[in-house]
Amino acid sequence: MGSENSVDLYRTEPGSLAGRYLRSFWQPLYRAKDLPAGEAMPLRIMSEDFTLYRGQSGAPHVVAFRCAHRGTQLSAGWVEDDCIRCFYHGWKYDSSGQCVEQPGEDASFKSKIKIRSYPTEEYLGLIFAFLGDGAVPALPRYSDLDAGGIIDVLLSEEWPCNYFNRLDNLGDPVHVPFTHRESRSRIGIDVVVPDQLIAEENDVGIKLTRKLAVGKSQARYILMPNMNHLRHPLRIKGAIANELKEGSVDRFLWRVPIDNDRCLGLGVDIVHLEGEDAKKKFREFSSETEPDGPSHVELGKRVLQGKAKIKNLTGADNYELTRIEDYVAQVGQGAIADQTNFHLGRNDIVVILFRKIWERELRALSEGRPTKQWKTLARSDFNGQE
Ligand code: FES
Ligand SMILES: [Fe+2]
Repeated sequence: MGSENSVDLYRTEPGSLAGRYLRSFWQPLYRAKDLPAGEAMPLRIMSEDFTLYRGQSGAPHVVAFRCAHRGTQLSAGWVEDDCIRCFYHGWKYDSSGQCVEQPGEDASFKSKIKIRSYPTEEYLGLIFAFLGDGAVPALPRYSDLDAGGIIDVLLSEEWPCNYFNRLDNLGDPVHVPFTHRESRSRIGIDVVVPDQLIAEENDVGIKLTRKLAVGKSQARYILMPNMNHLRHPLRIKGAIANELKEGSVDRFLWRVPIDNDRCLGLGVDIVHLEGEDAKKKFREFSSETEPDGPSHVELGKRVLQGKAKIKNLTGADNYELTRIEDYVAQVGQGAIADQTNFHLGRNDIVVILFRKIWERELRALSEGRPTKQWKTLARSDFNGQE
């Protein structure tokens, strides 16, 4: 770690190596339900600004941040059909970025004006875009995992830390008995450090197997370049928990840089339940409103400032408490964790392997060699381990 040959995994602005690599994959940018038809939003991803809007047709679009006329911010303008009209002097652009109207200008002018646009698609309750240059790959779909499942977007959150602080946590079951001591003990779960962790590179990224003393083993996947997948039984509290106890969940989490010291966490649950009745109950349950009060980010910040203690946060439900705990551990590493001062041990094998793969891929990219073509996670990857 941190040798002079190490590659910079943290910086993702345009032109940076990690930024070029991440831009060669589709990235989720926004929770679909937060963007109504006819609305535009400014968006910052990998230190670059964009305009995200949803046309009247319902289709999401991503175009350049600024108008080509005199540069004002397009998100302040109006969505008309699937076009966006500038707030300042009314130039109008279609979703390909082509200028299609310029009030008061010569008719021949508009054909010469085009702003950048980016392939955009909605999938799993999220809006994805391809922000890179060159050939556009197909958006990866997890068709045999999402088949028949209920899509539940569980989180969309901005944290003040580098995306790699968060990626390092994806393959880290050793933090659970400590970081999540309070939340787990409140629901009577006693988590122990796994006896053995096995990390193997495969076609999707890394397969992490943890063997527990009691003979059980559990697998999870870190999916290159910036997501992971967990499969677990449906865990919900309250009156309907018993009725839905046969359910299972495929959970996907993405970590996307906003800039070098902020990142976006997006998470989707694909909930599998038998029978329409159970599905209906779950939908009713999951549409209940989110809790009021300070956000997990606000509470996590207070803990890091010494103004609150996790053990005293009795108002937060268990899910919120888990997020606060993760926030405290990962933002607590500093906005950009100082890897030159890391002392990695046996339990960091996933962190070590993950960084090795990333560094290898970035070196290939910088030397113009082909990078590894990752596959999409499929049911067959589980080999009966579910
Ligand atoms: S700045 Fe957009 S139309 Fe003038
Ligand atoms: Fe955690």
